[in-house]
Amino acid sequence: MLKPQRSSAVILGAQWGDEGKGKIVDVLSERFDVVARYAGGHNAGHTVIIEGKKFVLQLIPCGVLRPDCIGVIGNGVVLDPAAFLGEVKKLREAGLPVDQRLFVSDRAQVILPYHRMIELAAETAPGRTPIGTTRRGIGPAYEDKIHRNGLRVVDLLNSSLLRTHIQNACHEKNTIAHALFGTEPLDPRAMYDEYARLAEQVAPFVTDTATLLNEAIEAGKKVMFEGAQGALLDIDHGTYPFVTSSSSTAGGAVTGTGVGPTRIGTVIGVTKAYVTRVGEGPFPTEIHNDTGDLIRARGQEYGAVTGRPRRCGWLDLPLLRYSNQINGTEWLVVTKMDVMDACAEIPVCTSYEVDGHTTDRIPADIRGFRSIKPVYTTLKGWNESTEGITEYDRLPAAAREYLSFIERESHARIGMISTGPDRTQTILLPDFEAALQA
Ligand code: IMP
Repeated sequence: MLKPQRSSAVILGAQWGDEGKGKIVDVLSERFDVVARYAGGHNAGHTVIIEGKKFVLQLIPCGVLRPDCIGVIGNGVVLDPAAFLGEVKKLREAGLPVDQRLFVSDRAQVILPYHRMIELAAETAPGRTPIGTTRRGIGPAYEDKIHRNGLRVVDLLNSSLLRTHIQNACHEKNTIAHALFGTEPLDPRAMYDEYARLAEQVAPFVTDTATLLNEAIEAGKKVMFEGAQGALLDIDHGTYPFVTSSSSTAGGAVTGTGVGPTRIGTVIGVTKAYVTRVGEGPFPTEIHNDTGDLIRARGQEYGAVTGRPRRCGWLDLPLLRYSNQINGTEWLVVTKMDVMDACAEIPVCTSYEVDGHTTDRIPADIRGFRSIKPVYTTLKGWNESTEGITEYDRLPAAAREYLSFIERESHARIGMISTGPDRTQTILLPDFEAALQA
C-alpha cells in the first residue's frame, strides 16, 4: 500500500508569472532532493544569481544549480529539444554536471518548428486578438497534445515514427498556415534530419519520470514541484483567454508529474510585494504614471525570455486571495520587498467596486474586469533600504506592518521574504523552516 508522504511541496507563482520563483526555488532546493517542473516550456524565465553570476533557465528546473539535487522535466511540460540541449550546454560550461542528475519524461510533448510557425502567424493575423505570447510555440504544442495529435518524447526517439509524424504534421500545418495566413511552407526532410540528430542527444536524459518521482518519495526523498508562469496564467483558472496553455496552478503538479495529491504536503505561493504582467490582458491595479516607471526601473521589470517591459501595479489582494484559494496555498513568499523602499506610500487593493457594490469576486468573463474599480488602503512606506536584510526584526517597522497586512488579508502565512536578487538576500522565518523540515 502507498504511504502518504507529505514532505514534498509545490512552489508556484501566485500572480501572472515573474514573481522571482527562480531564486526562491534555488534557495529552498537545499532542503529538497529532487526538483520537478510540471508545466509550461521554455516560455518561463527563471533568473538565479549566485555570487554575482547570473543564470537564466527557461526549461530546466532551477534545482539543478545545486549539484546534489536531481532535476526532472515532467510529462506536463512541452519540450523544445534544441532549447533543452542549449541549457544543458550552458550548465556544463558552468561546471554543473547534468548526467544522471537531470531527467526528461518520456511522456512530455515535443515542440516542433511548425508550432512556432502557426503561433507567429496566428498572433499577427488580422482579426485575431493577440495574446502577446512568448512566441515559443507553447500554445500550438498543447493544442496538438489535447487534439491527440502530438509527438511525445518517447516518439521523438523512434526514428521511423518521427519521420512519419513530421511528414504528416508538416503537410497538415503547412496547408493550414498557407491557407489562413499565407505562410511559406516548412521542409519536412530538413526538419526530420535536425530532430533525429537532436533526439540522439536528448535520449540519455529520457526516462519514466513518474516512476522515478514516486520511487524517490517512497524512499523518503523530498520533492519540490516547481511551477512555471503563475496561477493567473493558468488555462482554467487564469484571466482567460490572456493565459498560457497549461495548468500552472497546484493541480498541474499532480497531472504534470504523475504524483498523486496525497503525496504532496504543502503549497508555497510566491508573490511580489507589488504586481507585474507581461503580454495582454486585464490588470486592475496597473499603474499608468511615473511611479509605475519607477517600480519597473527599480525592479528591473523586463521579461527574462523576451526582454519586453513588464506592466507594473499595486498589490491586488482579491487576486492574491483567489490565487491562494485555487492553489490551496499554505505559505507565501514575498519577493522584491526592496523595490518598495522608494515609495513614500504604498496603496494596496483590498477589494473591488463594481457598479457601486463592493466585492472581491474575480469575474470569469474578461469583460467583467473593465467595470472593476480597485478599492485601496494606503500603507506607509518605510523610505529606507531593506536591500540584503536577512533578519525579520531588522526590517523597518513600516515594512513589517506591510507584510503583516498582506498576511492578514491574504489568508496564507508568510514564510520567506526576498530582499534582493542574490541567494543570500533572503529572510527565512523559523516556522516556515520548521515546517519544511518536518
Ligand atoms: P505563452 O505561454 O507563450 O503562450 O504566452 C501566453 C501568455 O503568458 C502571454 O501573456 C505571456 O506573456 C505569458 N507568459 C508566458 N510565460 C510567462 C512567464 O514565464 N512569465 C510571465 N508571463 C508569461
